[in-house]
Order: sequence, then C-alpha cells, then structure tokens
Amino acid sequence: MTVTQNTFIRAELLSFAKPPGAQDRPAAGSVEHFEDGLLWLREGLIHAVGRFSELSSELPAGVDIIDHSDKLIMPGFIDSHVHYVQLDIMASYGRQLLDWLNEYTFPEECRFQSAEHAEVLSQAFLNEMLRAGTTTAQVFGSSHAISMDAFFGACQTRGLRMLGGKVMMDRNAPEALLDGTTGIQDTERLIADWHGRERLGYSVTPRFAPTSTKAQMDAAGALLRSDPTLWLQTHLAENRGELAWVAELFPDSQDYLAVYERAGLVGPKSTFAHGVHLNESMRERLAAQGANIAFCPSSNLFLGSGLFDRDAADRAGMAFTYASDIGAGTDLTGFATLKSAYQVGQLNNQPLTAWQGFYGLTHGNAKTLSLDQKIGQLKPGLEADFVVVDPNATELLSRRIRRCSTLGERLFALMMLADDRAIFETWANGECQHSRDGLL
Ligand code: GUN
Ligand code: ZN
Repeated sequence: MTVTQNTFIRAELLSFAKPPGAQDRPAAGSVEHFEDGLLWLREGLIHAVGRFSELSSELPAGVDIIDHSDKLIMPGFIDSHVHYVQLDIMASYGRQLLDWLNEYTFPEECRFQSAEHAEVLSQAFLNEMLRAGTTTAQVFGSSHAISMDAFFGACQTRGLRMLGGKVMMDRNAPEALLDGTTGIQDTERLIADWHGRERLGYSVTPRFAPTSTKAQMDAAGALLRSDPTLWLQTHLAENRGELAWVAELFPDSQDYLAVYERAGLVGPKSTFAHGVHLNESMRERLAAQGANIAFCPSSNLFLGSGLFDRDAADRAGMAFTYASDIGAGTDLTGFATLKSAYQVGQLNNQPLTAWQGFYGLTHGNAKTLSLDQKIGQLKPGLEADFVVVDPNATELLSRRIRRCSTLGERLFALMMLADDRAIFETWANGECQHSRDGLL
C-alpha cells in the first residue's frame, strides 16, 4: 500500500443509508453512525468507513491520522436549486416575486455579459458554497453562455461535482437578457463542452414559462429527448401573481404544469423550483413522471410566496429536494435551509425531524437528483465529498450541545443553531477545499 495515496481521518461519522421516516426515532437501518469512527480516503474516493477501533488495526504502523475526534463528519450538503448569478443581490428589500425579478434580478443578471464579472462571481460563489458545507449544487447561470463557461471552468479547476445551465429566456425580460434563437444553440454548445466532463453535468434551464416562448420550450424538450443523461431545471408555481400571468399567457393550458408537460420538460431528471401552489392533479402528475420539486424555504419566506406542503407531497408520492434558491433565499448553509424548512413545517403543522432534514440534505437530494451512485453518503466507492462539523464552533452552540443526551437532539440543535462557523472543513474530491481557520 502506498501510504501517500491514502488519507485517514478519525471523527464521529454520520450518514444515511435510506430514508429515516417521519417518526421521532429513525427507521431501523437508516442511520449509519460511528461515535468514534475512521474515514479512509483513497484517490478522491471513500475507501472504507468504520469503527476506529476495528479499522485502525488494518492500517500500517506509523501512518498519519488526522485527528478530528471532537468533530462530526457528514456527507457534503447538496443544494438542488441556486442562482450563482444572484449572489450579490441577496437581501434586496421587500418585494414579491415579479417585482423582485424586475427590480433587482434582471438588472443584476445583465452584468454577466462580462466574462470577467462571471469569473469573479463564480469564484466568490464557490468560496461561499464551500464555506457553507455545500459540495454539490444545481445552479442557474444568467442567459449569457459565458456565465456558465466561467462557472463550469471554476468548478473543474476545483474538481467539484456540480450541475448547472445557462438560463434560456426569449421574452418578457430586458432586451439585453433575451437569447432568441441563440438560446438553444448556446445550450447545445455548452452541453458539448461541459456535460459529462469530469464531475460536471448540464441542466437544460428555461427560466420559467413566462419568459420562454412555446417554441423555445419545445426546443428545450427536443434537446432533452435527444439525450436522457441531461438534467432539466426551471421554476413552477412559486407565487400567485406568477400563476395568474401563466394562465393569461397560456389560456389553452389545463394548468401551469401542463405548459411544461406539453413541451416535454417533465421527467425523472427534472427539478421544478418551489411548487408552493400546486393542486392534487399537478402533484400526482409530477409523481407519476418522477420529477421533483425543489423546496426553497428561506426564499419562500423572504418573498412571501407561501408554505410548501410536504405532507401533500408525501401523500402524492411526489419527490422533493432541499434548496437555498439564492438570491431570493436568505442563507447559503444547509443548516439554515433546514431551519427555515422546520419553521415552514411548524406553520403547516408538519414537523420536520433533524433525521429527515439531514437525510434530505445529503442522500435524499443525491438520490432525487440521480447522483446517489456518486455522492450523498459516507460509503466505500462514493466520491469523497464531506463536511467536518464543529459542534463547539460557538460558545452558545457548545453549551446547547452539552445539554443534549442523544444524537437526535444534537442534530436538531445543529439544524436550528449552527451556521457557517460550524463548518470546520469542507472536503471535495478527496481534498480539503475549505478550512474555517485557514490552515490548508
Ligand atoms: N422565477 C423565475 N425566475 C426566478 C428567480 O430568479 N428566482 C425565483 N425565486 N423565482 C424565479
Ligand atoms: Zn430560483
């Protein structure tokens, strides 16, 4: 064994083998937990995971073991819906969706016609994601192809697993953002250059029905049919004003979802952000077609969009993922997304356990995005993307954690109290890519 190819980390380890269910106690066999564990990495992959006392006996004498015994390692967090181009307009005051798009979002996205700006923002965004413990995201660019060249290029240099696409929009937005017929050509070119390259995947990205003509959505559907390995991302039923607008623009459509169905955009690799205002029929059709809703709780609270109904989703068998939706979302960390999801749940009388939350943020999101053969668990053969959480990051967190007597209580305290200070390190592709204390 060449010791240099290997990395060994001693820490508490937590991962989910399957959904924990909605009960206070997780379903049998769902949680894999080693209070004193050893994570063994080899060439960017997880080689072995186990109890320290057992696994360490297999190691040659004298190997270096990184000692994170007072930290908790979980799989890297996954964000199923986020706009990297909106990083600089987070927390723009006080509007609902359509005004917010016109006043803040569209002017901001115009700036991405500059390759230099796109490169600076790509780096800034990835720095923030890694600082927040997020190792994979499904990302919207602007309508400029160079926004995604810059983004994918930056991800490639860092060896990150990321999905993303350039926004397609050919109406109802400032002229400078409309992509007309070049939208589909640019998308095809980006797919050829980036899809399947190293750890990158392409998501075809019509922004939402109001800003794409039927012709553009049909062309996006044709692209998807031509290559089932592609992903699809867009928005659906976020806000009541948006719903009324879609009904006006597509008077012959049975409902909002039918606009996307007719274009062939709904399938097992499709993510529809929000889905706050769905009816039973739409949920059942999404479930039948295997598509998922990206639940974006901090964004839905910020824009006053409404409360996503998790129980109705579960009853219909409709999958959903957890997402920040930056720039309408207010926080990048998975902890904050779960905290908002918990608060939305409380207002709906649908409590969210920490088991459900952290399963969702890791294995759940990976599975629903068809990435579970690569990421989402601490499991031999998967890629070595994980977070090292410091439960003593702040005095308050430390005091609260000391009062907990079970893992479930500790996870809940993290979900409600932790922020980016609790992300001690973020590892991706087998390398430490962020260190809170700057000691890389
Ligand atoms: N719907 C269409 N575009 C957007 C966007 O950029 N953000 C949000 N939250 N909703 C949208
Ligand atoms: Zn969005």
